[in-house]
Amino acid sequence: MTTSKTKTKTPKASGSCLKKWFFRLIAAAVLYVTCQYLDTIKHRWYVFEPESLHQLAKAAIAASPDPNDAWFMANYIAKNLTETYPQTQIALNPNPSEWVFSNAGGAMGAMYVIHASITEYLIVFGTPIGTEGHTGLHTADDYFNILVGEQWAFSPPNLQMERYPAGSVHHLPRGQMKQYKMHEGCFALEYARGWIPLMLPFGLADVLFSTLDYVSFYDTARISGREMFKNLLIGKI
Ligand SMILES: *[C@@H]1O[C@H](CO)[C@@H](O)[C@H](O)[C@H]1NC(C)=O
Repeated sequence: MTTSKTKTKTPKASGSCLKKWFFRLIAAAVLYVTCQYLDTIKHRWYVFEPESLHQLAKAAIAASPDPNDAWFMANYIAKNLTETYPQTQIALNPNPSEWVFSNAGGAMGAMYVIHASITEYLIVFGTPIGTEGHTGLHTADDYFNILVGEQWAFSPPNLQMERYPAGSVHHLPRGQMKQYKMHEGCFALEYARGWIPLMLPFGLADVLFSTLDYVSFYDTARISGREMFKNLLIGKI
């Protein structure tokens, strides 16, 4: 009795299982094609230009009363951007005193989030005492405009040290990674364009699995979430 039962059940069960996997495969293919398509059109949502941000970074350095005054430069940049871009086009954080600790890739510093949306982010990041770590392997292009001090970097098989002084840009293309060092004091205006939410695991791994600094974690989540939400509300992806 039992054997005949299982015999009649097996082809039915494997048939529905096959169907289930067929639909899963279709869903995966649709998701893949959608992601590929979104990737080809993501530039439509970009508001900032790497070159104009570089000009702005250089203007902030030139206007600063002291070459180490990162506080002045962050204020200068925030003021310029809030005057340049209409609030209907892009939401910016106008409060340059909103700094939080950031630990990522083994490096530690503080950041002021100027802008965060799905396809772009702009922050001032740095430390007056120096730090060193892994850049992370990202789905976004990264432009590191040095404001104060110097950043060093290296990526094998090129065993020479790359050197980025104040006023220069260190461009890390998407999909590439380096070891970097903010030698002694260094601050930078960091602009990333690409798929920003996919960078979050790298940005949060150190705080979740190493420092357990829940105060900075809470502030980072609160500020980044708030800025992304403000941008979604005005249709800035
Ligand atoms: C912002 O900075 C850029 C680059 O220095 C400059 O060309 C522009 O005039 C500035 N805009 C404002 C509103 O200050």
